[in-house]
Amino acid sequence: MEPHRLLPGSTEAQSTTTPDYLFRSVNEVAKRLKPETPIQCVFPDSVRTQARKFIDLFPGTVLYAVKCNPGPDMLRHMYAAGIRHFDVASLEEARLVRGLFKDAKLHFMHPVKSRESIRRAYRMGIRDFSLDSAAELMKLMEETKSARDLRLFIRLAVAGNSAAYDLSGKFGAAPSTAVDLLRQARKLAAKVGICFHVGSQCMDPVAYTAAIGRALDVATKAKVKVDILDVGGGFPATYPNMIPPPLENFVEAIKVAAQPFVDQGAELWCEPGRAMVAAAASMLVRVNLRKGRRLYINDGTYGSLFDAGALNWKFPVRLVRPQKAGRGNTHKDANARPPSEKMVPFMFYGPTCDNLDKMKGPFLLPEDTQEGDWIEIGMLGAYGSTMQTRFNGFHSEFVATVWPEAAPFAFERLRKKPTLVVPTEPAVQQASALRRASASKSMKQAPAERGSQNLHASGDGRAPPLSAK
Ligand SMILES: Cc1ncc(COP(=O)(O)O)c(C=O)c1O
Repeated sequence: MEPHRLLPGSTEAQSTTTPDYLFRSVNEVAKRLKPETPIQCVFPDSVRTQARKFIDLFPGTVLYAVKCNPGPDMLRHMYAAGIRHFDVASLEEARLVRGLFKDAKLHFMHPVKSRESIRRAYRMGIRDFSLDSAAELMKLMEETKSARDLRLFIRLAVAGNSAAYDLSGKFGAAPSTAVDLLRQARKLAAKVGICFHVGSQCMDPVAYTAAIGRALDVATKAKVKVDILDVGGGFPATYPNMIPPPLENFVEAIKVAAQPFVDQGAELWCEPGRAMVAAAASMLVRVNLRKGRRLYINDGTYGSLFDAGALNWKFPVRLVRPQKAGRGNTHKDANARPPSEKMVPFMFYGPTCDNLDKMKGPFLLPEDTQEGDWIEIGMLGAYGSTMQTRFNGFHSEFVATVWPEAAPFAFERLRKKPTLVVPTEPAVQQASALRRASASKSMKQAPAERGSQNLHASGDGRAPPLSAK
């Protein structure tokens, strides 16, 4: 089922056949909807920019890792930017993508699949499968009736110590096993590949160099010509405490290390998730109670904030208090006053009754943050809403599209009363063209002038640090 898109002036979910409406800012979402439940605010411009950046920079095929954010709107923006290949982890994801785009190329890169999934995926036309064991290879051959048109990828175990989220403990064949699997796969499959995952939010390009070096050792020992080298996901996004090197550095490291494969005619693939969409959505949450420095909010670790709780990630936050006193607002006056300028640390507590549903932060917010205020929690486009459970009955599928924000923290860029437009595809393209035109105009202006126009978005399209707000 598609999530409910929200329209301005309504707290009700609208039918998904209703055209999207665009909110000009997250503040506007809060002001117009006064939402009681968390809302995912999606920034299409950010998705499209990142997707194009990957397509332009990466010397091969870019697969979007659907698990990271399978929101249909997110997928549509991805497709609009030119992404045609999707790494799916389940049949459910495969069906979702196929339902949206008939010409999408699907790749089943989960190394452990049920027999039914393999069978149905093959019937759907999927030919690419990853594996890291002889037992999975046997399952694949049995369930596809020893099809001769498979492309089989051996998932290699690689180090995950350069990543914030190490994925090395669960999947990946040791090099000696990978050598055997590669030899067997070569006899059975139309094409063979090696894939790996260096861990999510990998901060060091050298991790790819090392992993590709290991893949080369395996291919050399196996004496097998590899058709595809898939360097996986792991590309980092920028979080307040984690500022990675630019994507260009990662791509350069991959290009250099993968040259021996390319020289032998191999294609290069990558499967980014986080780096594509992390900046492309914020969660707008509400404070239901304040106890000292503890804020009880309506989203938590069983919702979109798993990483904030389990991994203690400090997502950027910002108070959203859009009401103006005396303008017929329905809130208490205190929610209408300009927030205190003094920023103090808070802890968040989620809405469920579980003791684990808390997030240490600390999250810096104005000292007078209180019940009835909204908070924008940024950088939640990746592994945010997709992690939600229905625990204790809390769940939200509301999505609001915010356009034409350059990035989630380009708050309130437009001061004028917004005109809402229906984003038909041409309208979206027109908005893009206008933004490009105005960006190139501002680049031609004197630096001082340019600075004053770019108060809320840094020149590279990234958000300013939160403390700037
Ligand atoms: C097989 C596979 N590919 C790609 C990804 C995406 O990784 P990331 O979001 O770190 O780019 C994952 C994440 O778990 C994965 O398991």
